[in-house]
Amino acid sequence: MRIAHILFSQGFGSRRQCAGLIAAGLVRVDGRVVDDAAAEFEPEGLVFEVEGRAWPYHAKALILLHKPPGYECSRKPRHHPSVMSLLPAPLRTRGVQPVGRLDADTTGLLLLTDDGALIHRLSSPRQHVPKVYEARTRHPLTAEQVQRLVDGVVLDDDPAPVRALQARATAPQELRLVLAQGRYHQVKRMIAAVGNRCEALHRSAFGALELPADLGPGQWRWIEPQAIVPPR
Ligand code: URA
Repeated sequence: MRIAHILFSQGFGSRRQCAGLIAAGLVRVDGRVVDDAAAEFEPEGLVFEVEGRAWPYHAKALILLHKPPGYECSRKPRHHPSVMSLLPAPLRTRGVQPVGRLDADTTGLLLLTDDGALIHRLSSPRQHVPKVYEARTRHPLTAEQVQRLVDGVVLDDDPAPVRALQARATAPQELRLVLAQGRYHQVKRMIAAVGNRCEALHRSAFGALELPADLGPGQWRWIEPQAIVPPR
């Protein structure tokens, strides 16, 4: 693939802007400046540099972000900056978007991708990809409240009960919940439905993928889809 097309596909701007970066000597491969826009490279496994920053080629981008509080997942954020502002411009340009949403005050593991089929696969209720949430509650949890979360509670927008795959009190006011669905404010509404209140919420895992301990709030990294749903 031509270097100009590689840059374009990875979100470095219009074709003209990518040609400009190359002509300006700002693109390197293996430490050497590539100033010919027509130079060909095998894209798979390629790591190129733009303005001194190394970029691994990915046909589709899949990003794991440790979402800090105070960022919105929506495309048109209203009250807080968008989670997209935590990512470098090329990822935004190539159309990376969150897989599902976390509330502005929720922290933890957020996936973002430009792979529409993957978004569909990971968000589909039929896939039952489990997500792990750690919630802090306002009142001490009772055994009955925890049991009701597993037995199923009815939320106000649907008569069909929603249930947690697992629910466990890890401290008097700390709850670990595993959910397969992802309805609007689901954890907070489930906790409210059993007569308590969610005071803080953190997502610690999505499918087989756990939030890495060394990835601080606001930090992101590339991941591979197999890390989320391992091949059967
Ligand atoms: N459930 C919620 O209530 N909020 C989130 O951000 C995620 C799940």
